[in-house]
Amino acid sequence: MTLDRLETPAAVVDLDRLDRNLKRGADYTREHGFALRPHIKTHKSLFVAAAQLRHGAQGLTCATPFETEVMSSICDDLLNAYPPVGADRARRLLAVAPKSRITVALDSVAAVDNIAAAARAAGRKVGVYVEIDVGMHRVGVTSSANAIALARYITAQPSLEFSGVELYPGHIRESVESQDAALEQLATELSRTLEAFDDAGLTPPTVSAGSTPTLWRTHELPRITEIRPGSYVYNDRTTTAIGACAWDDCALSILTTVVSTTVAGQAVIDAGSKALGREPVRGAAGEGFGQLIEHPEVLVTRMSEEHGMLDLGTSTWRPEIGERVRVVPNHVCVTVSLYDLMYGVRGDRLETSWPVDARGRGHKPVPNA
Ligand SMILES: Cc1ncc(COP(=O)(O)O)c(C=O)c1O
Repeated sequence: MTLDRLETPAAVVDLDRLDRNLKRGADYTREHGFALRPHIKTHKSLFVAAAQLRHGAQGLTCATPFETEVMSSICDDLLNAYPPVGADRARRLLAVAPKSRITVALDSVAAVDNIAAAARAAGRKVGVYVEIDVGMHRVGVTSSANAIALARYITAQPSLEFSGVELYPGHIRESVESQDAALEQLATELSRTLEAFDDAGLTPPTVSAGSTPTLWRTHELPRITEIRPGSYVYNDRTTTAIGACAWDDCALSILTTVVSTTVAGQAVIDAGSKALGREPVRGAAGEGFGQLIEHPEVLVTRMSEEHGMLDLGTSTWRPEIGERVRVVPNHVCVTVSLYDLMYGVRGDRLETSWPVDARGRGHKPVPNA
C-alpha cells in the first residue's frame, strides 16, 4: 500500500529517519557513558518505546500517570518526571505493576507527603529525585539549601529512597552553537549544587538531565549520569531551527490534502489547529505553524480548526485541488497527542502503523446512577 491511499490528515513517520534518530541518541549516550531514560511524552507509543529499549534505554520517563500505566507493560523501570501532587495521582502511580521500579521527581514537602503515603499504603518503596530549577523557572527547588533540606526530608521517609537530582534545562533554546554561555553558567551552578549535596553527606546517586536542544552537549555538564531526551525521536521545526537536528531528520509529518485555492496567493489544506497544534516555533524566531516537506519555502501561516492556510507568496508552486503535501509541525509532542494512530512509511510505501497508546488521560467513565 502506498501513501496516496491514506485518508488525510494523517500522521506519517518516516521509518528510516526514526531508526536513524534512535541510533544517534543511543550512540551519543553510550559514547559518554550516560544511562538513557528517554521521555515518552513525544511519541506516547509502545512501538517506539520498545525500540528505545532495544537501543539500550535502561528505563523510560513519563509525565502523566496514564503514560506510566501504559509503559509499565513493557518496562519495569519508570520515572514519572512530574510532581506527584494529589492523593489520586500518587495512588495511581503506585498501582502500576508491582514488579516495576517507580521513581518520581518533585520539589515540595507536600509532594513528598503524597507519594510517601501512597507508597506506604501500597507496601512499596519509591525512588525520589529532587528537582532543581536550573533556569527554566517552571518547577524545581531554587536554592541548594532548600534542595538539601528536601532530600533530608525524603531520607526520613521509610517508604521512599533519595535516588538523585533531576534538572531540565528547557530555558536553553538558542541555537546549539550559541549555547556556550548558558551551558557554562549551568555547569558552574550545577557543580556548586552537587558539591553542597556532597558536603551534606547526600551525594546524589543519579544526576538526571534532559532536553533535545541541549542533548548533544550534555557531556559538557558535570557529573550527569542519565539523560531524558524526548523530541529527538521525531524532531520538528523547533529542533531544526535550534540546530539540534537537520531538516532531513524530521521523522514525523502530517499528510494533508489541498482543499481550496480560491484566494489568490494561497492554498488551504485539511490540517488546522486540530491536526497540527497551535504552537510557536519555540525559542527561535520563526513564523508559521508548520512547513511543507515537498516545498520547504511554504509555511502554514494561519489556521482554523480544520483549515490550514498556506502562503504561496514565497513560492512558484501552484497546487491543484486534491494535491497532497506533508507538513512538519513546530512542536511534535503536541501534534502527536492529536492522533490515535501513526503510519510508518519507507519512501512512498506504507509499511506499518501503531497506536498512540498513552494519548489522553485514561480516565474511567462515571457509572450511571
Ligand atoms: C522533565 C522533562 N524531561 C525531559 C523532557 C524532554 O525534553 P525534549 O523533548 O526537549 O527532549 C521534558 C520535555 O518537556 C521534560 O519536561
